[in-house]
Amino acid sequence: MEQNYQAHYPSHVADQQKRWERALEAEDFMAALVHSGSTIHSFLDDFEYAFRPNPHFLSWLPLTRHADSALLIVPGRKPVLFYYQPEDYWYLPPSDPEAWWAEHFEIEVIREPTLWQQRLKKDLPDADLKLGDVAAIGDSPMLGEVFDQKWINPQGLLTRIHLTRTHKTLYEIACMEASTRLAARAHVEAERAFQEGCSEYEIQLRYLAACQHTDAELPYHNIVALNSHSAVLHYQARDRVAPDHARSFLIDAGCTFHAYASDITRTYARQPGEFAELISAMDAMQRELTHQVCSGLDFKDLHLLTHRRIAELLESFKLINVSADQALVTGLSSVFYPHGLGHFLGLQTHDVAGLIDNDGHEIPRPEGHPFLRLTRKLETGNMLTIEPGLYFIEPLLRKWRTDHDANAINWNKVDELAPYGGIRIEDNVLVTEGGCENLTRKAFAEL
Ligand code: GLY
Ligand code: MN
Ligand code: MN
Repeated sequence: MEQNYQAHYPSHVADQQKRWERALEAEDFMAALVHSGSTIHSFLDDFEYAFRPNPHFLSWLPLTRHADSALLIVPGRKPVLFYYQPEDYWYLPPSDPEAWWAEHFEIEVIREPTLWQQRLKKDLPDADLKLGDVAAIGDSPMLGEVFDQKWINPQGLLTRIHLTRTHKTLYEIACMEASTRLAARAHVEAERAFQEGCSEYEIQLRYLAACQHTDAELPYHNIVALNSHSAVLHYQARDRVAPDHARSFLIDAGCTFHAYASDITRTYARQPGEFAELISAMDAMQRELTHQVCSGLDFKDLHLLTHRRIAELLESFKLINVSADQALVTGLSSVFYPHGLGHFLGLQTHDVAGLIDNDGHEIPRPEGHPFLRLTRKLETGNMLTIEPGLYFIEPLLRKWRTDHDANAINWNKVDELAPYGGIRIEDNVLVTEGGCENLTRKAFAEL
């Protein structure tokens, strides 16, 4: 795959233009105004929450820190970018547009955040274009000052645009390769910190230093979990003090490159032993599942196959006293593996359109699998995660003990391994013509 993402940008913008033109025409709009978003302040103070731009704006432009800019898309015309660049001395204003992306837009620098509104109202680029013909996309409160509510984020248009985002362009793939490489490097540094006996907080700092991200630039809050903390699926605390005995380490951490995310999980044991063997078995299983990724595969089937594989592992490691078949039928596998196998990945960690078909209709999740985020048949150009897990989650185990056949679980074995928390292994995978490409394994191998 070509590494030079900038070389692919012109065709990315051309694709974007075509995709939006088709969607606008199908939904009877003459144009779209895509707003980047506005900063949000804490109540009664001027503290700004971390700014996360509208992903539809980011799908056109690598402007991750640019609040209050807006893009006007009119079929057959070069898109107009209202580029907010205030003359400010409280905050550093955005720098001047860079040629590699700027040449694809007609740029109007605005010094006040509302100036795009005046331009739209008075001076649409086409004399025949009325505000009611323009769809507005975004969440800035400023959109409501100009547009009727029914023109803001119309569902039909959003659905069509979301579906286009399931097929990554070469530019997007190159950006995601870059964010994966950054994260792989930082994962290696985090593992080193774990082996040195660092606290969760210190490991997080080492991760950030290695990828040169701030916390706010990460695609999601890193999960940095020692010992039993890894049984909390979205563990968010970062203990400042290292545990006396660090047995295991689960890190679910990504990076961004021009807003495109990576989302990677690795699990480590400090010593050889049964938990380390379970990690190896999970790793082999995750590779086997990933090899099956190809165009036409129903992701629901792969998720259900994962439950079979987890049930087999539970049986072979004697964590359960029943057969794998029984663990599947009774739902026992979900006690140890309660989340979905994966999700689309892109400008959002959990990228859009995972649960609809190409006509925009919902594809329901299989019964008993409420957290699966991807129910589609895979297509070439999809980017997704493959992330099986196996955990010792006290509330789920307790619930099984009281509501189901308590003897189905080998409690001695579970009690032995529960202090290790759990295991997740997560890679980022591109569906290709011939099968798939595992960006994550490739990035680790090339370090
Ligand atoms: N890091 C969030 C997830 O894996 O879905
Ligand atoms: Mn994920
Ligand atoms: Mn993850």
